[in-house]
Amino acid sequence: MLRDTLSAGLLSLLLATPSSAVLLWATSYNDHTVTSLNLKGRELKTVAKYTDCGSEPAWLTLNKGESVLYCLNEGWGGESSITSYKTLADGTLETLDILPVLKSPVSSTLYGPDKSGLAVAHYDTSTFSTFSVGDVTELALAQNETYTLAEPGPVPDRQSAPHLHDAVLDPTGKFILAPDLGADLVRLYAVEPDSIEWTELEPIKAVPGSGPRHGAFAVAGKNTFFYTLNELSNTITGYRVTYSAESAPEFVQIFEVSSHGAGGSVPEGTSAAEIEVSPDQRFVLVSSRFENSLTIPNFDKANSTRLPSDPIVSLKIDQRSGELGLVQEAPAGGRNPRGFSLNKAGTLVASALQDDNRVVVIERNVWTGKLGRIVAWATVGEGEGNGPNYVLFNE
Ligand SMILES: *[C@@H]1O[C@H](CO)[C@@H](O)[C@H](O)[C@H]1NC(C)=O
Ligand SMILES: *[C@@H]1O[C@H](CO)[C@@H](O)[C@H](O)[C@H]1NC(C)=O
Repeated sequence: MLRDTLSAGLLSLLLATPSSAVLLWATSYNDHTVTSLNLKGRELKTVAKYTDCGSEPAWLTLNKGESVLYCLNEGWGGESSITSYKTLADGTLETLDILPVLKSPVSSTLYGPDKSGLAVAHYDTSTFSTFSVGDVTELALAQNETYTLAEPGPVPDRQSAPHLHDAVLDPTGKFILAPDLGADLVRLYAVEPDSIEWTELEPIKAVPGSGPRHGAFAVAGKNTFFYTLNELSNTITGYRVTYSAESAPEFVQIFEVSSHGAGGSVPEGTSAAEIEVSPDQRFVLVSSRFENSLTIPNFDKANSTRLPSDPIVSLKIDQRSGELGLVQEAPAGGRNPRGFSLNKAGTLVASALQDDNRVVVIERNVWTGKLGRIVAWATVGEGEGNGPNYVLFNE
């Protein structure tokens, strides 16, 4: 009995990598595909590739309960679209619908009753749109708002117009936030009860010239915090969120720190990309592009030349103040980690390396918040640059 318990304990320790298959999907610009990947032990295998997400697949949103995957086509040439796919148990996808949409959708979130709404941020076209996706075979535009700027922001070459870069549902499911990199705002929308309709509230002010790109919430006991990762200043801004029954939620800025934590700095040309809060709400993870500050072992074991890597930075959330303390700067698995995501248990991080045509899966210690070795990797994308930009677990 004791021996069984011991060996079971040992086994679960040894099997930090999953024993049963885990499915992932990655989007990539340069081969214009959604790639289905199957992670088994230390192997990450390509299951299939799909081209119904148009010319520049850029983002994925999963409705796990309904086995539906939404893919945004950024459409650099202007032909943008949203594709809904049925996800099958073996990782393959079946196209349900393709809806042409306004140019440059870059991020989306499900919201509303039974996740029947999809909120989308459009970057180039300065627009927030929502779509009715209750009927997955008949996606339809529901509502939209396009913004303008009276004058360029402090970083004129990137802030000559509003650039919405993310759509984030708050933990109550009643509000959607859209960080606007061009306008230094986080736009805020109140979702109507029992509907996918929304009304706009007063936006949250971001630090001038910071260029908020992506955002993430953390719920720590009774405290709610909201963090934005700011692409232009390479900083993280923290807000304390206070809800009230009578009025709009309040977002009070509590700090702004380097993307590498308080006192940290980044080289010229760095461009912060993705922010995620760990499932246990104890850590913030951010990816940072164009630093090439770290290295990883060559995937060819016979080759001792190490490969360059940008970092994924892990920071610990003070559960009372919301402040962030640096835990680790770990290799993201290559260059230009535009998008990454965690599995539900928080034990794995999947990272898309846009400049290396590579997707890696990295192990993560849930307790310390530290990333460990690269568990598995796969080639995704084809050609020079602009390869895989996002990867998501089927969880
Ligand atoms: C906004 O929605 C209306 C229909 O409700 C549509 O005619 C218009 O083209 C949309 N504008 C954008 C920028 O998507
Ligand atoms: C070793 O790896 C480096 C970096 O990828 C590469 O440039 C070099 O050609 C490799 N050497 C051999 C012998 O394969």
